[in-house]
Amino acid sequence: MFSELKQRPADPILGLTVKFNADSNPNKIDLGAGIYKDDTGRTPVLTCVKVAEQFRVDNEATKMYFNSAGSSLFNEKIATLNLGDHKVIRENRIRTISTPGGTGALRIAGELIRTCKPGGTIWVSNPTWANHEGVFTGAGLKVKTYPYYDYENKCLDFAGMVEVLKLIPQDDAVLLHACCHNPSGMDLSKDQWRKIAELARETGFFPVVDMAYQGFGEGLEEDAYGLRLMADTVAEMIICSSCSKNFGLYRERIGACSVIGNSAPAADIIKSVLLPIVRVNYSMPPAHGAAIVETILSSDELTAQWHLELKDMRDRISGMRQLLVDKLAASGVMRDFSFITAQTGMFSFLGIDKDQVQRLQDEFSIYIVGSSRISIAAIAPDNVDYLAQSIAAVLR
Ligand code: LMR
Repeated sequence: MFSELKQRPADPILGLTVKFNADSNPNKIDLGAGIYKDDTGRTPVLTCVKVAEQFRVDNEATKMYFNSAGSSLFNEKIATLNLGDHKVIRENRIRTISTPGGTGALRIAGELIRTCKPGGTIWVSNPTWANHEGVFTGAGLKVKTYPYYDYENKCLDFAGMVEVLKLIPQDDAVLLHACCHNPSGMDLSKDQWRKIAELARETGFFPVVDMAYQGFGEGLEEDAYGLRLMADTVAEMIICSSCSKNFGLYRERIGACSVIGNSAPAADIIKSVLLPIVRVNYSMPPAHGAAIVETILSSDELTAQWHLELKDMRDRISGMRQLLVDKLAASGVMRDFSFITAQTGMFSFLGIDKDQVQRLQDEFSIYIVGSSRISIAAIAPDNVDYLAQSIAAVLR
């Protein structure tokens, strides 16, 4: 069975963590995977999560199966978190299921699209999260790219994006990042979202919005602006969201796939198609992360605590953006890195070449993705000098 298998390369993001863990250099820094770390380098369990977990330990009465959609309370809470008081909820046009992380949501979304349009195509931004292509091809879709980031000028290539999206055939799917674009950190402005939503309405492309970082950009409401506008504008769309980063629940694997139909009966039919897709994949989602999130979002006190903890994470990351730019200048780097402070969320592209990325790893034990994406969330006051000096050294 296995004799013909060939060794596959390690995952471009997760593989870095494996290398990092095996590195004995005490100065090593892991700027690979998008995982929040505090000033001491830890990824703490949020206090609101600890309280919710204790509540679950004290009150959980059964481990009986749920169903393929997961907890209905979680599903309702997450749709409201993503959309606010939105007409698609009032009109009963949205159906949400819990999924194993945001990746699970993307995979189920991909399979739903393939069910509707066998051999169909999804367009993703160039660049995009390293796993998007694999998830969607695994779901049976063709993956094409639209321009997004202007590497030369370190800004959005909005004109290029519009030019390509204008020509996309009706019913092709288009994946958009709701906020904190992964990997570039460059988001659409409100005006640009309006333009893209109008394009979706005019051309009929089908929007799939990936929201993995709600609350890590400007705030919970601000980060959902584009997604909500899109839901105002088109009749049908999919939202894939994740609780990995904003609730710090990474390994619990909890996310959601919300599908908006053009009427309540249409939404019921969509759900009846979604459930067997889940059933043949993993039968039903894990429950623990959903229980934590629904407990937090059902309590005013825990929700307030969560908002504070989320703000702390967001503020720390933006502080680190500024600190890195300052330290690079202090390390004698002449190149302008101020674009780092104009970006949001966990990531930025340093804009250095592959050899320099490799030198950072080989000579300084600094691990970053080959595209030169760095996870700002892993920078801390006690590693930023070493980081800036190492970058300065490879730029010389
Ligand atoms: C990342 O992009 O680093 C995160 O989304 C973690 C992952 O699963 O890749």
